[in-house]
Amino acid sequence: MMTHKAVAVITGGSSGIGAATARLFASRGYAVAILDVNEERGRKMADAISSDVGSARFFACDVADEKAVDAAAASVEKELGLAEILVTSAGLIPNTESVMDMDLEAHDRMWRVNYFGTIHACRSFGRQMIRLNRGAIVTLGSINSLAPMPLPAYNPGKLAVARLTQLLAVELGRHNIRVNSVGPTYVMTETLQSRVDAGLRDLKKIMSVHALDTLPDPDDIALAIGFLCSADARTITGVLLPVDSGWHAAVSYKTYAGGVPWKE
Ligand SMILES: NC(=O)c1ccc[n+]([C@@H]2O[C@H](COP(=O)([O-])OP(=O)(O)OC[C@H]3O[C@@H](n4cnc5c(N)ncnc54)[C@H](O)[C@@H]3O)[C@@H](O)[C@H]2O)c1
Repeated sequence: MMTHKAVAVITGGSSGIGAATARLFASRGYAVAILDVNEERGRKMADAISSDVGSARFFACDVADEKAVDAAAASVEKELGLAEILVTSAGLIPNTESVMDMDLEAHDRMWRVNYFGTIHACRSFGRQMIRLNRGAIVTLGSINSLAPMPLPAYNPGKLAVARLTQLLAVELGRHNIRVNSVGPTYVMTETLQSRVDAGLRDLKKIMSVHALDTLPDPDDIALAIGFLCSADARTITGVLLPVDSGWHAAVSYKTYAGGVPWKE
């Protein structure tokens, strides 16, 4: 009898955190489905993973489009089987701007991708998990889920994703499906590195508000996601797990007006 691999779906799996997560699940024996708008990169990533560590297939999909996500979910089911894992890593990352001056079209697009894209994927693949009566979902939050930052569409969107994660955890818990979020600080992806290189992010300033002197890389985030999806986390649901090099603890401590109790 043919046995099927469990299916892990990673939106935004063509690059960054999503790509590292796709690679991790493939290495753990899952049949990985990468959903992304970037077809060229996505196909290359799926091929690289398949020739390296395991099995990955690419499905072109704009997560902002509910019908496209539904269609991709039907293709995943047909080609690989019902999804048991979903990681919603597709997202747009902005630069600093003000509420008063921001471009409202870009604002709406960011919500469509980052927030509605998360809802679309959770609904389409959550329905497959309900049919399986098991599953785990991890959404991509951020330190932006925890505090205000001058990113008017992104910042409230990440707070909304954290709350959505809790709602889904309660709705889907009775189907044996857990729903959690990870909250990375600045992750050393190609995207962040290019913004540092272009002078749009100040690495020294970033490091001055962390407890550790190292930022997470995409593999660190993937490992936290892997933990949340594993049997080791079987009673953990509805949480936001910061993977933040101590940013949350350090940001107010290190900017205390009286200074820190050591010499810097
Ligand atoms: N990099 C960081 O510092 C950081 C920190 C906290 C949270 N996050 C979150 O992690 C997630 C992934 O970020 P990343 O750093 O890996 O970014 P990235 O730009 O490297 O990857 C994002 C992926 O999403 C895809 N994508 C964009 N719009 C899409 C759409 N409409 N439909 C389908 N795919 C789409 C892109 O093609 C890309 O492959 C995002 O939700 C981001 O907000 C990132």
